[in-house]
Amino acid sequence: MTAQRPGWSPQSWRARPIRQVPDYPDQAALGAVEQRLGAYPPLVFAGEARRLREALALAADGRAFVLQGGDCAESFSDYNANSIRDSFRVLLQMAVVLTFGAGVPVVKLGRMAGQFAKPRSSDTETIDGVTLPSYRGDQINGPEFTAAARIPDPARMEQAYNQSAGTLNLLRAFAQGGYADLHQVHRWNLGFVERSPLAGRYRDLAQRIDETLNFMAACGMTSLNTPQIRETEFYTSHEALLLPYEQALTRVDSTTGDWYACSAHFLWIGDRTRQPDGAHVEFLRGVRNPIGVKVGPTTSTEDLLRLIEILNPDDEAGRLSLIVRQGADKVAANLPPLLRAVTREGRRVVWLCDPMHGNTISTAAKVKTRDFDAILGETKEFFDVLAAEGVAPGGVHVEMTGQDVTECIGGARHLSEADLGERYETFCDPRLNAEQSLELAFQLAEELKCRRAPLADDPRAQVAAQ
Ligand code: PEP
Ligand code: CO
Repeated sequence: MTAQRPGWSPQSWRARPIRQVPDYPDQAALGAVEQRLGAYPPLVFAGEARRLREALALAADGRAFVLQGGDCAESFSDYNANSIRDSFRVLLQMAVVLTFGAGVPVVKLGRMAGQFAKPRSSDTETIDGVTLPSYRGDQINGPEFTAAARIPDPARMEQAYNQSAGTLNLLRAFAQGGYADLHQVHRWNLGFVERSPLAGRYRDLAQRIDETLNFMAACGMTSLNTPQIRETEFYTSHEALLLPYEQALTRVDSTTGDWYACSAHFLWIGDRTRQPDGAHVEFLRGVRNPIGVKVGPTTSTEDLLRLIEILNPDDEAGRLSLIVRQGADKVAANLPPLLRAVTREGRRVVWLCDPMHGNTISTAAKVKTRDFDAILGETKEFFDVLAAEGVAPGGVHVEMTGQDVTECIGGARHLSEADLGERYETFCDPRLNAEQSLELAFQLAEELKCRRAPLADDPRAQVAAQ
């Protein structure tokens, strides 16, 4: 039986300074919800989280590549099978392309089935001279700009739990029930390539995937006899922001005696709540799931090393991912000293690139957007910085949707600021739409393919990659 981390308990975070957690006016209602959630079944089980940790351990030294993606914020009003299916489908499409480019298995990690609570830069929002508390995600309060909607309501935690359970159920069915068949996913990609204004650029990669699949079929590997072709593993993740909810879903794993957060397989600490002495770090240090920390431009080397020591004292591979989100104009200057310090200390981490959160801009009309070129640019810089230090890129973390929204500018169709009004549907940050997501995957795959060792070009290496 593994010992609990010294001084830790599921509620030890309550004694620490906390940021970004709402003040619930009705404490009795909050207590009742926490109690009910504490008795509900876990959404994931510890064995799955351990498998993910093993997969992430491979990503730590370049033997796997992580694709983490989904909405900035899931919402109650956009809860339906189509949007879950479409995001899942685009993530799989991206994964196939990246698998081919990186020449290693892609670990698929949705920002789904629990990504409901949002940290905010400002506690209030002012519209036409009226100031109200900020919207903090559907799990906490409502997006409508009324005083009533903005009051934190604990009943929303239960609704988030129920929606997460429904979403996860469908994701599991898709992943294991035949929907994720590699041939099918590749056919969707061929459709995308033919429709894309950049078809010429993507056709070559698509054709080579085609040949590889035909080669595998000729060798007798089909979806009938090879589960890796028919099924996939899909994991869930979200920011562990709303600690009363996370605590209520924290359980002891009966096989190991360890504590696991059972609201998702992977949880991360946001850039606004990563204070080494703070409540969020305290909570996540004691659960044994694989976890992440956002590394924004204000992260000092000293704090980063402290965080690594607190969150992964045993230097366990796969336990900790550093999700770097510096901005396209800052990553080349800010990342090298952090990377060198972690390498010098010999710490094993997965280096992920979040090219979204450092590249949010506001248009003249005050609409939040992100430029496709900045997103691609930050990711390439990230690859360059890591390559210069001989460190493998662990993967990417993106905000995307399977829907045809107009939230990020640029991409093959040159979406402009004027187009943003057409289908701007996000509840928080702007997401890549389905086409922009696939474009990113194709361009990153080309990038990864150019960079990797010749050995990985062996077609046999592709066989195990789904
Ligand atoms: C997010 O991932 O949606 C987010 C708020 O990120 P960060 O903490 O990096 O700002
Ligand atoms: Co976001």
